[in-house]
Formats: sequence, C-alpha cells, structure tokens
Amino acid sequence: SNRTDIFLAGVGAVGGKLLELIDEFESKEVSFNVVGICNSTHTLWNNRGLHKRDLEEQLAKGNETDWQEIIQKLTDGDWHHTIFVDATGSEEVARLYPDFLEAGIHVVTPSKLANTFEQSYYDRLREKASAKGVSFRYETNVGAGLPIISTINDLLESGDKILELSGVVSGTMTYLFNELEKGVSFSEAVSVAKQKGYAEPDPRDDLSGEDVARKFLTLARELGLQLEMEDLQVESLIPEPLKELDRESFLERLSEFDEYWKEHMDEAASKDETLRYTGKLKDGKITIGVESLPLNSPLGQLKGTGNMLRIFSSRYAETPMIIQGAGAGREVTAAGVLNDILKITKEQ
Ligand code: HSE
Repeated sequence: SNRTDIFLAGVGAVGGKLLELIDEFESKEVSFNVVGICNSTHTLWNNRGLHKRDLEEQLAKGNETDWQEIIQKLTDGDWHHTIFVDATGSEEVARLYPDFLEAGIHVVTPSKLANTFEQSYYDRLREKASAKGVSFRYETNVGAGLPIISTINDLLESGDKILELSGVVSGTMTYLFNELEKGVSFSEAVSVAKQKGYAEPDPRDDLSGEDVARKFLTLARELGLQLEMEDLQVESLIPEPLKELDRESFLERLSEFDEYWKEHMDEAASKDETLRYTGKLKDGKITIGVESLPLNSPLGQLKGTGNMLRIFSSRYAETPMIIQGAGAGREVTAAGVLNDILKITKEQ
C-alpha cells in the first residue's frame, strides 16, 4: 500500500481532531503513519507506533521542540512522502515552510499566515515547491472544509476569468449575528463561539476583521493580484486600542460592547433586516465590513457558521457559482486538512 508519513505540529482544536480522523481512516490504497507530533514546547517522535490518545498523553514527556532538528530528522530519516502539517497558529512556524519544502517535504496547513505574509514570501513558497516537486496545500484557509480554493483554481485553469468574489467567509461572524438576532449579548456570543471552536485562538482576530481579510487576500493572490494586507479596506467590530490587552483581560471587557451591538441589531430588525459581515473583491480592490441586509436575503438567511461565497466570472456572469455551507469548526476544518493530505498521497 501507499504509505504516507505525517508529522503534525499543533494538537489543539484542529490538530487533535485530525489525529482522530487519521486513526479512524481506513483505505486499501493508503496508510498513514504519524511519525511525530509537537507543540510549541514539546516534540514526540512516534517510535512505538502510538495512536492518538497515547501520542497526546506522552507529548509532555517528549523533547524540547527545536524546529531545525525536526526539519533535519524529517530530511534524513527513511520516510515515505513526508508531509508536514502545521496546525499551530504560529508565525514562527509559518516562516519555516520554505525550509520544509526545500528539504523535499510537503506542507499542508489550515493556518492563514503564510499566504498572507508579504507577496514575495507567497511567491517564494510556490517557487520552492515547484523546484523541489513537492506540494503546498491550504484548502482550509478559506471556508474551512468548503472547496473554495480548488474551485477557483479549476475555473482559472479552464480559462475562465473571475470578475468578482463576494459574500460571507467568517463562521464566527455569522454565528455572532445570529445570536444577536435571538437577543443573546455580544460578549456571551463571542465566548460561546470561542468554546465551540469557531473563533480563532484569539477571537480578536475574528472581531477585528483580520481573519476575513486574510481569506480575501489569499483569494486575490490566487487570482494573481499583487496585494498586501495594508491594501485592504477592513472594518473592525471592536475599537483598535483593545488590541493592546492580553487575551484574558480582553474577554473580560467584551461586555462593554454589548449595548452598542444590541442597538445596531435592533435598528436592523426594525427594518426587517439583519447584520452580516461581508467581503468583496472586485476591480482589484477588497472591501470588508458590516452590512445591514434584508432578513430574507440569501446572506441574511445564513445560519450557524454559514459561509456563502459568490463567484462571478466570464462564464458565470449572470448567475454566479455559489459555494455555501458551514465554514468553521474543528470537524470540518480537520476533514479539509485530511483531504489535502489525501490529494498529495494520490499524486505520488
Ligand atoms: N475563525 C474562522 C471563522 C475559522 O470563524 O470563520 C475558519 O476559518
């Protein structure tokens, strides 16, 4: 059978779920071997063929994490089609992808960081991957498990021209505004979105619009547009200064915004509208922010962690292609990462 060796960095919400999916995965064609896992402090090499729970339990007894050593070991060992999965949210790790690719190791990640660093870094990742004949896959960067990036690339490859991408690509924001519709407070809704694993590790990354900005920047770059984060027009749900606080103090002060958001939602409701956090890429420009939309419109109807992206292209000019579904959460995201892993495995 076609054995694939996986090293997993980060065993939080998504990484932990991914380990479970790998354990449960059964197929005649493919077998997975988790050669090691790590978090920011510890690294455990899986010399004894341990499975999920044991691996996670033993991690604290592992060695101190040393990234260069990990790259070295993955380069030198007798591995098969090695894939490095980055399920951390770490900038330091996202900066190391060129080193992994250079070493002939595939990289798969749900992290949105690497694709939204400076344009030259984005280009370097592609150059390295193609020079070394390895893959860099990140389908879950936009819409979690929804097939957004692959669909856009399929359209481009067949010669279509994308004219506009617009809609909602934040599960947390849809959840939040749905809760506000029901009368739940802003602060309560944010805490629950965090508990449920929809929000980013620091929910300010969702509330500031940064998460959606990274998604739209990634999509723009897929289209070949040369843009930087600073070029995007992004509306934040929270005042900027609170970015100075640490995570816990921030969460404690969230209720200061309850009244403001209650009033805004009430105002929308008085016009049979609701609030949605939308983004649009058109004519090389990206605009992101809160919109008041009819309750019975397609975006107004989104529930749960609903995402909905409309793709207008030369061939889908009148009636856009629409990708819609749950767009956040550990299960769908981990499944999307597993699909990226499977695609690489099948290419070998
Ligand atoms: N925090 C993100 C969201 C996770 O709420 O959409 C999925 O990218």
